[in-house]
Amino acid sequence: MREHDSSGPTTMRRGRRKFDDDEPDFLKRGRLEPALSEDPDLPEIGDNWSTWDDALHGPSPRPDWVRTEHGAVDTELGMLKTGKEADVFLVRRSLPDTELVSMLAAKRYRSGDHRLFHRDAGYLEGRRVRRSREMRAMTNRTSFGKELIAGQWAMAEFGALSHLWELGEASGLIRVPYPVQLRGTELMLEFIGDWATGEAAPRLAQLRVDRDGLADLWRQMVDALSVLARAQLAHGDLSPYNTMVQDGRLVLIDLPQIVDVIANPQGRDFIARDVRNVANWFTARGLRPDVEELIERLYYEAGLR
Ligand SMILES: Nc1ncnc2c1ncn2[C@@H]1O[C@H](COP(=O)(O)OP(=O)(O)OP(=O)(O)O)[C@@H](O)[C@H]1O
Ligand SMILES: [Mg+2]
Repeated sequence: MREHDSSGPTTMRRGRRKFDDDEPDFLKRGRLEPALSEDPDLPEIGDNWSTWDDALHGPSPRPDWVRTEHGAVDTELGMLKTGKEADVFLVRRSLPDTELVSMLAAKRYRSGDHRLFHRDAGYLEGRRVRRSREMRAMTNRTSFGKELIAGQWAMAEFGALSHLWELGEASGLIRVPYPVQLRGTELMLEFIGDWATGEAAPRLAQLRVDRDGLADLWRQMVDALSVLARAQLAHGDLSPYNTMVQDGRLVLIDLPQIVDVIANPQGRDFIARDVRNVANWFTARGLRPDVEELIERLYYEAGLR
C-alpha cells in the first residue's frame, strides 16, 4: 500500500505547522490567528484571495457551502498528507466578517516522476495534448513536460470526481468529496473531516469496528462498487487507504486513474482487483463476503459478460 506519512510536526513558512493523521489536535494546540497583512494587494485577513474566479468549477447543483464570493479569502492551515504523487493541504476559505466558511482539501500534484498519462489510460486520444511540442516536452520529461503531465493527472481526477459526485447525487449509493475547483495542478475538494477542528476523518485502514459496523461498511462498499460497475468504471486503485469513513459513511478518494472498463482491455482485471483489495480488509476482520460471486455480478452489471 502506498503510505507516505510524514513524521511529527515541522515548522513551515510563516510559522505554520505541518501535521498529519497522528496530529489531529493541531488546531486545539493554539493555531494560528492570521496576522494582518501589510501588502495592499493581499487581503487583510487570510493568506490570499480565493482562487475561485480563476478556476474550473465543480458540477451543479453546487452545494451551498461552496464559497463563490469575490471577497472570500483562503488561509492555508497546514499539510494533511504528503504522498508519492501529490501533497494534500488543509485550506479554510471564508468570507471575512461573516460566518461563511468552507474547509477544503487542496491536492497539489507534484511535477515529479508521474507515469505518462496517455499510456496508462488512453484518455488523451484526440485531446489537445496531441500537439507535438507538448507531446515532446512530456516524453522528454522537461520541467514544462512534467508540469503538463501533473496537470493531466489533476484534470483526470477532477473529471472522475465530478462524474462520481453526480452519480452519488442521483443514486445516494456512492460518495466522493465534492470537487470544488481545478486550477492547473491543484484540485480543491470538500474536506472530509471535522470542519470545526480540522481533524481529517479516518481512512478505512485505520478504523476499528464491531461486527455490525463491519457488515454495514461492506454493504456500502458493495453499493459503491455496483454504481461504478453500472457506469462501466473501476476505481483503479481502490484500497482501505483510499477509502475514508466520515460519520459511518464511506467516502472514496484518490481517483486520477479511474478506468473505463469497456475501453480498457484489462477492464475485468481492474474490477476484480478493486474488489479483492477491499474485500481482504473485511475478510481479515472476520466478515465472509462471497468475493467471486460479487466480481461476477459486477462484470454482469458493467455489461462485461
Ligand atoms: N477530501 C479530503 N479530505 C480530507 N483528507 C483528504 C482528502 N483527500 C485526501 N485526503 C488525505 O490525503 C491523503 C492522500 O490523498 P490521496 O490518496 O488522494 O493522494 P495520494 O497522492 O494518492 O496519496 P497516497 O500516495 O498516500 O495514496 C488521504 O489518505 C487522506 O488522508
Ligand atoms: Mg491515496
